[in-house]
Amino acid sequence: MTITIVVGAQWGDEGKGRVVDWLSEEADLTARYNGGDNAGHTVTAGSQTFKLHLIPSGIIHPHTQAMLGCGVVINPLSLQSEVQTLREAGVLVNEQRLRLSYAAHLITPAHRALDAAQEAARGRGSIGTTGRGIGPAYTDRAARRGLRLDDVLRNGFAERLTQQLQEANHTLQALYNAPPLDIEQTLADYLPAALALRPHIGDVGQELQTRLNAGQHLLIEGAQGSLLDLDLGSYPFVTSSCTTAAGALAGLGLGLQPIGRVIGVAKAFQTRVGSGPFPTEVFGAEAERLRGSGSNPWDEFGTTTGRPRRVGWLDGVLLRYAVRINGLTELILTKLDILSGLEKLQIATAYQENLTTRHEQLPFGPSHLGSFAPLYEELPGWSEPLGTVRTWQTLPPAARHFIQRVAQIAGCPVRQVSVGPERSQVIQVPDAG
Ligand code: IMP
Repeated sequence: MTITIVVGAQWGDEGKGRVVDWLSEEADLTARYNGGDNAGHTVTAGSQTFKLHLIPSGIIHPHTQAMLGCGVVINPLSLQSEVQTLREAGVLVNEQRLRLSYAAHLITPAHRALDAAQEAARGRGSIGTTGRGIGPAYTDRAARRGLRLDDVLRNGFAERLTQQLQEANHTLQALYNAPPLDIEQTLADYLPAALALRPHIGDVGQELQTRLNAGQHLLIEGAQGSLLDLDLGSYPFVTSSCTTAAGALAGLGLGLQPIGRVIGVAKAFQTRVGSGPFPTEVFGAEAERLRGSGSNPWDEFGTTTGRPRRVGWLDGVLLRYAVRINGLTELILTKLDILSGLEKLQIATAYQENLTTRHEQLPFGPSHLGSFAPLYEELPGWSEPLGTVRTWQTLPPAARHFIQRVAQIAGCPVRQVSVGPERSQVIQVPDAG
């Protein structure tokens, strides 16, 4: 029995999709345990680029089965269009290959409308959500009034959905002065997509445990990033689920059991979409250089929303924090190639509070960082493009030094680095690396 967990070590968009794609070759099962279609995983396989939001990216490998656990929130309309896109690309998606937990909650149009209305009401204090209804869906779950996938299997689902839409309309109008949903039209669009999920619904926890007991390998894919975790992230500028590795088993309906590897994926720099603190953020020409123009699929624009991402230098303090809260056994560093051509590179190694106190660790997590200024270590850059480099020995010495310093600062070995979006653009870092 082997379990590998892959999580984002920053604010999401670290390149987990591609890492999961490599690791899926050795996995029998791939699973998601949190979030919904707010996630965006881009995977390039040969000439095809897949942008997945909900289905684990491992599904692209024909030998795997993909599971969505009870910690996930599912919008049937998004799932339907994602299944359609995969099928058009020749990927087989049927009820054997895609399994959905009976206890996962549904995102409905009511949640999307409420997400938009709540964001508008927050005004300048908005979170910058993806608008996918994530917060309101998890709110209904915690308030014990949500609709779950097992409700789709029962009589009376349409009535319960209608009731939810009516209640949402009341809230939208009375509290937010927002337009109500057209209930008939919404039911006509949503119900067929929800009912089409029926053959996929099962007890994912039980199915996974049986397969694990038979010696199969499970690859668990976290969505978003550690710093967006509901409790341990930069609250309130977070998502509404547990994004860290410790939530993986609970979010799949599994009990505690041995975990093999806990892999944190981090970019060689740092990005964030949405609002909230970002101590190492850069602006102007420096930001444009790290972000890219948007003409390449790997430039820093949101997969789900298309928004330009905020960019900055690698934050070693937050990376150390991510190593601790996830229990990471290793790091994979992505997008090292983007740093080529920069004369000097910066990594934050500590924070200074109110110009006086130095912190190696955050005293109270990453929420209130207003009075903290990052203290940087400056490292020499390299000029060579890295896209064709495949071995540690042929990396420029300054790039090797950068990777070694990241590992030392984070307190965790870096096992691999990526130097481009293709499956082959990966370099193994030797143990002594
Ligand atoms: P929500 O998850 O849509 O409620 O958004 C809450 C915060 O998480 C916002 O700052 C979003 O931009 C951010 N967020 C949600 N999903 C992702 C993701 O997959 N990558 C990066 N940021 C995300």
